[in-house]
Amino acid sequence: MSNINVLDAIKSRASKRKFLDKEVSREIQEKILEAAQMTPSGANMQPWVTYAVSDKDTLSKVGSSIIEHIEAGGDVDQHIQYYPVNWVNPYKKRRIVTGAGLYKKLGVDRKDTQTRQDMWYDNFRWFGASTVFFVFIDKAMIDNAQGALIDTGAYMQSIMLAAREFGLDTCPQGSTTEYGKIVAKELNTPDNLALLYSVVIGYEDKDALINSYQPERISLDKNVTFI
Ligand SMILES: Cc1cc2nc3c(=O)[nH]c(=O)nc-3n(C[C@H](O)[C@H](O)[C@H](O)COP(=O)(O)O)c2cc1C
Repeated sequence: MSNINVLDAIKSRASKRKFLDKEVSREIQEKILEAAQMTPSGANMQPWVTYAVSDKDTLSKVGSSIIEHIEAGGDVDQHIQYYPVNWVNPYKKRRIVTGAGLYKKLGVDRKDTQTRQDMWYDNFRWFGASTVFFVFIDKAMIDNAQGALIDTGAYMQSIMLAAREFGLDTCPQGSTTEYGKIVAKELNTPDNLALLYSVVIGYEDKDALINSYQPERISLDKNVTFI
């Protein structure tokens, strides 16, 4: 266990996309999830419902079902729409710059659709990590309201920051959101649950070039107004 301060945890968190084949112990998983339980939520609703999956066969089955579905030409199969349907600037541009920066770092050509497809599929191989937290919500919580989505977003960050305390890294995944119904089916979750996202958690491969990618942030004057 490291002794990391809050700002260090926030600033050292980065999405990692290659992990060592090293287990995250049940004890550490519980410590992280116990800390994340302290995430605030409106009226203390605590709307997150988490499946912490480390069983290799289960992870492989969930991932391969998604990849097979895509390979068969299947469309997204989701409970919620994460990304905007119509992208507008400046978000569209930020998305393009971020993606292009990653491919550039790895020397992947824009037209190399095969490699790009394979990198996308790596999401469903969980980037080699041995644990994935799949976070669901009761559909009743989001039928006519969006507040609980705010709470579950904060929960995601709590997990990712708590992970830093144990020298662990993470990658949040909206890729699984797009195939949430397949995840739900494979995990045999109750019908009332909708998948919001997953978080891959593990020990990063420090030698992997992909893990050195750090997309830039905009400056405060772009999105903060001090009055
Ligand atoms: C809700 C959410 C979903 C994301 N989905 C994916 C994903 O499916 N695959 C992936 O590689 N990165 C995913 N990311 C990571 C973002 O690309 C990343 O957070 C962003 O580029 C900033 O980089 P950083 O996390 O390294 O600071 C996601 C991030 C969030 C918050």
